[in-house]
Amino acid sequence: MLNKMNPWKKDQNPSGLRERVLQIKEHEVPSHIAIIMDGNGRWAKKRALPRVAGHHEGMKVVRKITRLANELGVNTLTVYAFSTENWKRPKMEVDFLMKLPEEFLGTFLPELIEENVRVEMIGYMDKLPEHTQKAVGKAMEETKDNTGLTLNFALNYGSRAEILDGVRQVLKDVKSGIMSENDLTEEAFSSYLMTKDFKDPDLLIRTSGEIRLSNFMLWQLAYTEFWFTDVLWPDFNEEHFVEAIEAFQGRQRRFGGV
Ligand code: FPP
Repeated sequence: MLNKMNPWKKDQNPSGLRERVLQIKEHEVPSHIAIIMDGNGRWAKKRALPRVAGHHEGMKVVRKITRLANELGVNTLTVYAFSTENWKRPKMEVDFLMKLPEEFLGTFLPELIEENVRVEMIGYMDKLPEHTQKAVGKAMEETKDNTGLTLNFALNYGSRAEILDGVRQVLKDVKSGIMSENDLTEEAFSSYLMTKDFKDPDLLIRTSGEIRLSNFMLWQLAYTEFWFTDVLWPDFNEEHFVEAIEAFQGRQRRFGGV
C-alpha cells in the first residue's frame, strides 16, 4: 500500500467531513461529475512561483478528489485537463502540461488499479505528443476492466469541434444510408460525440471564480446543475467537493417539467 494521507483520521477531519460524507451517501449522489479545474496560474502567482507549479499542485488535487469520488460511488469524474485552445499558451507551459498525465499515472496508476478505478479520455488523442498518448493509452488498457469510478480526462478537448465532427459524421452516414434523417434524435446525436459511452454530467464544478463554460461539453451540460466557487483549483479539497455535492442534493431538478 502506498503512503497516503487519510482525510478520515480525527486530526485531519476537523469539520466533521466523515459525517458529511456518510450523510451524502444516504441521498442521490451525482452519477457523473465534471470539473473545470481553473486557477492554477493565479495560485502560483500569489506565491511568486512559476505557473507550472500551480499545475503541478493541481495534479495532486485530482488524485485527492478521485479517491473521494470513488468512495462516494460516483460513476464518472470528468476533469478538463487541456482544451483545444490551450495550445496557445507558451510552449514551456504546454510541454509541462503534456508531461503531467505521465507523471500522474506514473505515480498513481498502481493506486488507481488497487481502487478499481478505470481511466478514460475524451479529446483529440492523435494530436497529443507521443509520450502523452503512450501514458494515457497504457492506463486505459490496464484499467479497462475495472468497475469502480471512471476517471475521464478531457485532454485536447473542445466541445464545438466535437459537435462539428459529430455533424460531419451524421452527414456521411445519411449520405451512405447507414442513418436516416428521421432517426436523428437527440439521443442518436449524442452517440456521435466523444462522450457516447457516458451519461451527461449531473453536476459541473468550476473553480477560481470564473463563471463560464470555456468550450466544455456544451451539448452534454444542457440539464446539468452548475456549482461555482472562488477557491483556486490547487486549494480545492475534499470539503469543497462535499460542499458542491451537498448543494447539488439540495436542488430540485425538473428537466423542463414543473
Ligand atoms: C486552468 O488554470 C488549468 C489548466 C489549463 C490545466 C489544468 C490541469 C491540471 C489541474 C492538472 C491536470 C492533471 C493531470 C493529472 C493531467 P489556469 O492555468 O488557466 O489558471 P489561471 O486562470 O489562474 O491562469
